Amino acid sequence: MIEVVVVGAGVIGMSCAWRAAAAGHAVTVLDPAPARGASWVAGGMLAPVTEAWPGEEHLLDLGVESVRRWPGFAADLTAAAGCRAGLRTEGTMVAATGAGDRAELDNLATYLTGLGRSVERLSGRELRRLEPALGPDVRGGLSVPDDLAVDNRLLLTALQAACGRAGVRFVAAAAKSVLDDGGRVTGVRTDGPDVPADAVLICAGAHSADLHPTLDGLVRPVKGEILRLAHRAGAFPPPGRTVRALVDGRPVYAVPRDGGGLVIGATQAETGFDTDVTVGGVRDLLRDAERVLPGIAEYALVESAAGLRPGSPDNLPLIGPLGPEGLLAATGHGRNGMLLAPVTADAVLALLHGDPPPEAARPAAPHRFVSRR
Ligand code: GLY
Repeated sequence: MIEVVVVGAGVIGMSCAWRAAAAGHAVTVLDPAPARGASWVAGGMLAPVTEAWPGEEHLLDLGVESVRRWPGFAADLTAAAGCRAGLRTEGTMVAATGAGDRAELDNLATYLTGLGRSVERLSGRELRRLEPALGPDVRGGLSVPDDLAVDNRLLLTALQAACGRAGVRFVAAAAKSVLDDGGRVTGVRTDGPDVPADAVLICAGAHSADLHPTLDGLVRPVKGEILRLAHRAGAFPPPGRTVRALVDGRPVYAVPRDGGGLVIGATQAETGFDTDVTVGGVRDLLRDAERVLPGIAEYALVESAAGLRPGSPDNLPLIGPLGPEGLLAATGHGRNGMLLAPVTADAVLALLHGDPPPEAARPAAPHRFVSRR
């Protein structure tokens, strides 16, 4: 049993903290505002296949491995927390509007099929048969039943409860830097008292790079704006599946929530640590989402929010040792924090025990950057 300090109480930090505490370690989580930040804003897609991008095969493998672990992770979490983890298994479809969008989806389908991933190409009519909420501008697309979704806020509540029951100590302090004695971690300096530790795990999302010089320049904020809508009586019912779409080349997605809720996302901008919701962002999301799901015009707009994804240089996260003994990172998850929580937590637990992490997580070792410094 060792004393582990986890910096950051987002989905990654709390998943790792819960698993480590359940395995018998003494775990403290530092965060001035637990369960907020990017995790609170997330759409909640668990979508390695439909978010795949040529050249990012390690990320695809890691995502596929994590989505495979999601049902077990959700079942364990529900048992540990005594409440739902928010997993949704209805699947995902991708819709295209114009000819250019359809050509792009065709390329994606060809690429994925070439990698042996199963995707089904469907006409607009076939897609509408599955999801009558899709409008007439949708001309074709893909069905990917194995890409799932999670209600991010149910998940965060469950993680907080599971951490509490496993004995995790939450400290509402902001971490300033990692303390080491010239080769071995000794704790974390905060805006309150220092917190001693045998091991420190940096899971501070977009703020991770400030905590240790080895992360300098490796994690940057990538802003995303989302909207939350609620179905109103008399309006067309929302889709049951996650709907991703390309509208005149712009990506947009709608992720269902219980009770007729929809999360519409997400913009992408590199504007530093800015979390303002912009007029242009809201306009683009509503215009594009309405082209695909015309019924949302009658929904209530209940929330707009922006979060900062922690971007890494190659879009793979940084999971593993950073150099000084006892210092680990689990950060840089970019667009995929919700998706990658189960495999990240398993990798971190293995590393704490001195075991190798899951095969798919090995390319995410920070040594790919840190050793070059
Ligand atoms: N994974 C969706 C997003 O980052 O917007």
